[in-house]
Amino acid sequence: SNAPIRVAVTGAAGAIGYSLLFRIGTGELFGPNQPVILHLIDIEPALPALQGVTMELDDCAYPLLKGIVATANLDEGFKGVNWALLVGSVSRKAGMERKDLLGINGKIFTGQGQAIQKNAASGVRILVVGNPCNTNCLIAMNNAPEVPRERWYAMTRLDENRARLQLSRKAGVDITAVSNVAVWGNHSATQYPDFYNARINSKPVTDVIQDETWLKNEFIPTVQQRGTAVIKARGAGSAASAANAIIDSVHSIVRPTPAGDWHSLCVCSDGSYGIEKGIICGFPVRSNGSKTEIVQGLSINEFSKRGLMPRSMS
Ligand code: NAI
Repeated sequence: SNAPIRVAVTGAAGAIGYSLLFRIGTGELFGPNQPVILHLIDIEPALPALQGVTMELDDCAYPLLKGIVATANLDEGFKGVNWALLVGSVSRKAGMERKDLLGINGKIFTGQGQAIQKNAASGVRILVVGNPCNTNCLIAMNNAPEVPRERWYAMTRLDENRARLQLSRKAGVDITAVSNVAVWGNHSATQYPDFYNARINSKPVTDVIQDETWLKNEFIPTVQQRGTAVIKARGAGSAASAANAIIDSVHSIVRPTPAGDWHSLCVCSDGSYGIEKGIICGFPVRSNGSKTEIVQGLSINEFSKRGLMPRSMS
């Protein structure tokens, strides 16, 4: 049917929102024949800025954009939404302890989880981007027990894309030659981009890049610290590349994964690979176009084992 898909974006007045919304408007998220209605959610003080974003979206005269709801009210914001992209969160400022941040975001994602359960369309799917995205996703999910756990995701795709870039540069191959990159664990500096199971032109990475010292001591930290490097260079966090990874993530969920490949996504653990059941963790994931599944049977050596488990969850 050609009924519009309703997409909620929280933190819509923020930097990622400013890159993401206009790409959704062009139809990049769900294709050139699928109308969308945007639900832009931000906090009260950001509403004037959100009004400006709404004006600009209007001024794009996108044929596929059939409506905009801009609000700080969660019931209104999540009413009937088919997708919820939870981008907004409070990031750490100078003098703020990690536990303060978890307390603040804990409240935000508790309220958003409850509002999603109460208001969203029955098949709603949720992608959490705002950091700490694993933890925030877990909190929202646990506050919406009626929304099935397989519809909750958190984003590690930017890390996958960063890892693919580094591997392609080192091997001197096109970016499209790099596949099967899994980013395990948390989206954070403790994530583990798994080069052992990744492939370049269908061959194991370690056959093509015969330099495990580089893979262990340069590749991994470069990927883990890429976000910080962008902040240093740009004076602001990754925004356009994060928006791009959001679009990639949704595509990988709603489109069948090419045979033999997988993508990185945080999903609710079913206990696979010994990772605690019920937590939200980065896994290699495949989709058949409607359902995602954790890729089974990958070999995990001792080095990888140390990288697998989410850390700093407390
Ligand atoms: P930003 O600071 O430019 O925008 C954040 C927006 O969220 C602001 O408009 C703010 O008013 C809003 N916001 C704050 N609390 C809110 C609430 N309770 N409800 C709704 N909106 C709320 O930040 P930016 O650059 O857009 O990044 C957003 C988040 O995405 C950050 O937490 C950042 O760490 C995270 N991020 C995650 C990545 C990932 O790979 N998972 C990659 C890049 C960023």
